[in-house]
Amino acid sequence: MQIKVNLDKNTSYNVYINELEKLEFDTKVVILTNEVVAKLHLETLKKKIHAKELYIIQIKDGEEYKNLQTIEKILNQMFEYKLDRKSLLISFGGGVVSDMGGFVASIYQRGIKFINIPTTLLACVDASVGGKTGINNNFGKNLIGSFYQPSAVYCQSEFLKTLNQRELSAGMAEFIKMAVIFDENILDFLENLDENAFLTAKLDDVNLEHIIKKSIELKANIVSQDEKESGVRMLLNYGHTFAHVIENQTNYKTYLHGEAVAIGMHMANTLAYNLGMLSKNECERIENLLKKFKLPTFYKIYNINEFYEAFFLDKKTHHYKINFILPCGLGKACIKNDITKEDVLNALRVFS
Ligand code: GLY
Repeated sequence: MQIKVNLDKNTSYNVYINELEKLEFDTKVVILTNEVVAKLHLETLKKKIHAKELYIIQIKDGEEYKNLQTIEKILNQMFEYKLDRKSLLISFGGGVVSDMGGFVASIYQRGIKFINIPTTLLACVDASVGGKTGINNNFGKNLIGSFYQPSAVYCQSEFLKTLNQRELSAGMAEFIKMAVIFDENILDFLENLDENAFLTAKLDDVNLEHIIKKSIELKANIVSQDEKESGVRMLLNYGHTFAHVIENQTNYKTYLHGEAVAIGMHMANTLAYNLGMLSKNECERIENLLKKFKLPTFYKIYNINEFYEAFFLDKKTHHYKINFILPCGLGKACIKNDITKEDVLNALRVFS
């Protein structure tokens, strides 16, 4: 199965689901991965990649390593391997690997091609598609980066079978996000899904493939309309404005990205409820779904003013106006940049 991300002639690409048999390249290829994925799946992948010369770069696992120091290490190794402008980089890992792989590919000798082979559910359903690349710094999450599209994405269920419950839950957060902002039918589907089978990676391939396919179809459609996030793509940031502050405040060590997004969605819903955009019943339905998939919905805010000020470092803030993405009913979301500080603080107070 393949889904096209329709951009212009030179940058459109396909996302292949469970179609990776063998890839042949007449160039040098470097696989960027982390220590955990390497141990579990690198040998399997290497058998599928036939390149003129094949190199491996292994980084540490975790969002706390998604920074400039790691980028410099990766670049140094690429220079040591004498990769040239025709070389290809394969990001083989979760969102952290694909964010960093895409970023180094975009700057190495002014840009080389890269492909994504995601190994987490979160990367399959969201991060590996759409060309957002980047790293964190002291000021915030993903504040350094580029829009740089992969040449192809290969999602393989076989690489997801070793994920633990937390990783699967984190991926599900991004899928729940898609449901809330675009498609209420997905909420029904998820409410009927056997969460125990899912969270122990025993979900049958048909359902897993359905989740990945549905999410990528929605995302490909949005990215095709608005590659660089000047309009409708902003909706995909639902929950993220809050999540990025949480991740930054906890030094990227406490929560997986999807977990922070789950809390962020609940914070956004609280604000939407206070503003009359979401009913109590709708709010509870989303919260119950997050809980069903063992996602957190609460983060203790010690200083609501400090939390509020941190929004102004986010990329989604323009001219001191914060763009909040809030659900307006189920399956629909709106961009709101006129919410008063008082209303935001009132919502944050629920978490203090
Ligand atoms: N993760 C949101 C986006 O790619 O736009």
